Amino acid sequence: MNRTDFSSALKIIKNPAKLALAVMAIPDGGFNLITLEWFMRTSIQPPMFAISIGHSRFSYDCLQKERFFNLCFPSQGMADAVEICGTISGRDQDKFILTKLEWFKGRLAGLPIIKSAVANFECRTITQVQSGDHTIYIGEVKYSWSSPEKKLLLLENLTI
Ligand SMILES: Cc1cc2nc3c(=O)[nH]c(=O)nc-3n(C[C@H](O)[C@H](O)[C@H](O)COP(=O)(O)O)c2cc1C
Repeated sequence: MNRTDFSSALKIIKNPAKLALAVMAIPDGGFNLITLEWFMRTSIQPPMFAISIGHSRFSYDCLQKERFFNLCFPSQGMADAVEICGTISGRDQDKFILTKLEWFKGRLAGLPIIKSAVANFECRTITQVQSGDHTIYIGEVKYSWSSPEKKLLLLENLTI
């Protein structure tokens, strides 16, 4: 075990890593999507997920005003959509139009449930905490959806 810099140590622990998309309402209308690597379960009962959102993201502006998000776990057929949602900002383009992802309205706040995903969790934000240049939003899961026949997309499946 040798002392090293943070980036070198991080490379070793990075994979395998799951990915998620968070879906939220845009205050002026419409919906946005963001690709996430930084998310985790934080409670068994009630079930909760935390997502960490950078302050430069359009998603941060949205989540400061809209207190709901869907956490969507992408399937292997969704690599292109995940790359688009992780490189383009909703400030500049409508990512639902770009990705052509099909969806239906969820039960909690009417946010999109992505049909091609492995699972979707509808969350209500119950608290948030600033963590350096990101804010962690903790959401209580109110409704869950799944397609167990689909395979989960991993970070290593992306080309970016
Ligand atoms: C694989 C991958 C993982 C990412 N994980 C996160 C993350 O956990 N948190 C975050 O704020 N941004 C993350 N990003 C960056 C955002 O997805 C990206 O900046 C996005 O374009 C922001 O969109 P927005 O401006 O519409 O919110 C990730 C990007 C990629 C490609």
